[in-house]
Amino acid sequence: MQTPFDLDNSASYLRWRDQKLKHAITDTSELIVEIKDPLALTSFEHNALLDRCQRSNMVIYATRDLPADEAMVRQFGLQFGLKSLDANWLAGEQGITRVTVCANDGKRQAYIPYTDRAIKWHTDGYYNSPDRTIRGMILHCVQSAGQGGENRLLDHEIVYLMLRDENCDFIRALTAPDAMTIPERADEHGVARPAQTGPVFSVNADSTLHMRYTARTRSIEWKQDPITLAAVNALEKLLTSDLVHIHRTRLEPGMGLLCNNVLHDRSEFNDNVQHPRLLFRARYHERIAGT
Ligand SMILES: [Fe+2]
Repeated sequence: MQTPFDLDNSASYLRWRDQKLKHAITDTSELIVEIKDPLALTSFEHNALLDRCQRSNMVIYATRDLPADEAMVRQFGLQFGLKSLDANWLAGEQGITRVTVCANDGKRQAYIPYTDRAIKWHTDGYYNSPDRTIRGMILHCVQSAGQGGENRLLDHEIVYLMLRDENCDFIRALTAPDAMTIPERADEHGVARPAQTGPVFSVNADSTLHMRYTARTRSIEWKQDPITLAAVNALEKLLTSDLVHIHRTRLEPGMGLLCNNVLHDRSEFNDNVQHPRLLFRARYHERIAGT
């Protein structure tokens, strides 16, 4: 199948690039779509959500239908063909994780998502094995923080485009199968997760682009050659720039992010003690249908 993400096919790439830049959303307010009932979207709402995802791989939906539960998130995802939930060892029974501060839970509090600290730019599941690649994601806000907890969002296709424009060799380096290694993580019982070596950019079976990345500097090993390190440096520069494609937003109760696992981060936050921040996170192996 032809893909614009092939370095040997610049005609296809340039056509895709034109369309991408023409339609990509740069105004964050355009990314937000109000919906009435997340369990039963109207075709108008569904089309509006899908349109954003086709253009920018993400949409922020906003509903007044409160409160939500895991079943709602699951049913919402099904309407976009999202059905293969990734079984996470910290996730609840339904495969949907409650992301909240776990101060007294020894297992969870070791992981930044379950603290009130900032999380650097990443795509979800960058440490997963290839058979558990996370291509789709829903992050639904039940309760926002008293203060902070904003997200920045960036379409990974835009990152690919900017890097390829800058230097094709950056893409060559970041698609190498040994570009990035996440070392094994051991717990008190021994090895919980083996080391994962793989590319940053890869092409899915349906010719769409996948990105595996984390901006963390500990527990990650980059291939030690000049072009890989230069590519990583260029990528870091992009993520700290004021690129118009970087969206800044804060999910409030009833709002959520539906996306093809785009790059995102989280700022630190302070909980309101009575109402601690709570998000439902669903990770899927497939992308949003029709994108
Ligand atoms: Fe994440």
